[in-house]
Amino acid sequence: MEIVILDDARDIGRLGADAVGALLRRRPDAVLGLATGSSPLAVYDELAARCAAGEVSFARARGFTLDEYVGLAADHPESYRNVIDTAFVSRVDFAPGTVQGPDGLAADIPAACAAYEADIAAAGGIDLQILGIGTDGHIGFNEPGSSLASRTRIKTLTRQTRLDNARFFDGDLDAVPTHCLTQGLGTIMSARHAVLIATGAGKAEAVHQMVEGPVSAMWPGTVLQHHPHVTVLLDRAAAGRLQLAEYYRETYRSKPRWQGL
Ligand code: F6R
Repeated sequence: MEIVILDDARDIGRLGADAVGALLRRRPDAVLGLATGSSPLAVYDELAARCAAGEVSFARARGFTLDEYVGLAADHPESYRNVIDTAFVSRVDFAPGTVQGPDGLAADIPAACAAYEADIAAAGGIDLQILGIGTDGHIGFNEPGSSLASRTRIKTLTRQTRLDNARFFDGDLDAVPTHCLTQGLGTIMSARHAVLIATGAGKAEAVHQMVEGPVSAMWPGTVLQHHPHVTVLLDRAAAGRLQLAEYYRETYRSKPRWQGL
């Protein structure tokens, strides 16, 4: 796991966009895994700016979102399908229909989850998965207690996650759905490169556990310790509880340039 501690969200945006840009130059038809929520917004903003400047193109790329609320109407602005469209997809040059997400309105939820896994596999798997992390340590919506080998399925959101996300629903906890469909931890682990972004002191404990704690379903992000290629982009506040912060800084400062991210 590579830990990169940066000054602010703009620096995170630039470095995250560098990773996506380098992949698309190497492989224009790359498959991207897209998180919603606030953490990746700086990366999406930077990629939109670079796309407008002709520096990066998604014209041959594909995308799969991580998760979706169950039961939110298709035109609800907080459905993750609409959130990712607004925050990213509509601002770059993906071809129509090349970004998909789990179907939170499916009549047959297990079949929809299996179909999503099959679609990811048919696309050749995810090359680069963008992730955030919840204050309770979830990645995707794999809440504490999730199987470390799980695939896309329905999950019950914790009260903590619903409280955290009530800010997107005018502060109304009752408006936050209780269930979601999410790529599993096993699905996320199948991505070839994971780039996880965390900002703010509220994430510091989850980040400390994910990077330095024992691997445990109680802190689902810890499964990433078993992944061979994870890049963690943090601001200073999110890095605030890391025991080896100075070592991570020194490692990144002295990293050979040819290594890239
Ligand atoms: C969203 C997702 C979640 C979020 C996490 C952090 O697609 O997968 O794991 O990344 O809840 O949310 P923010 O970034 O809003 O703090």
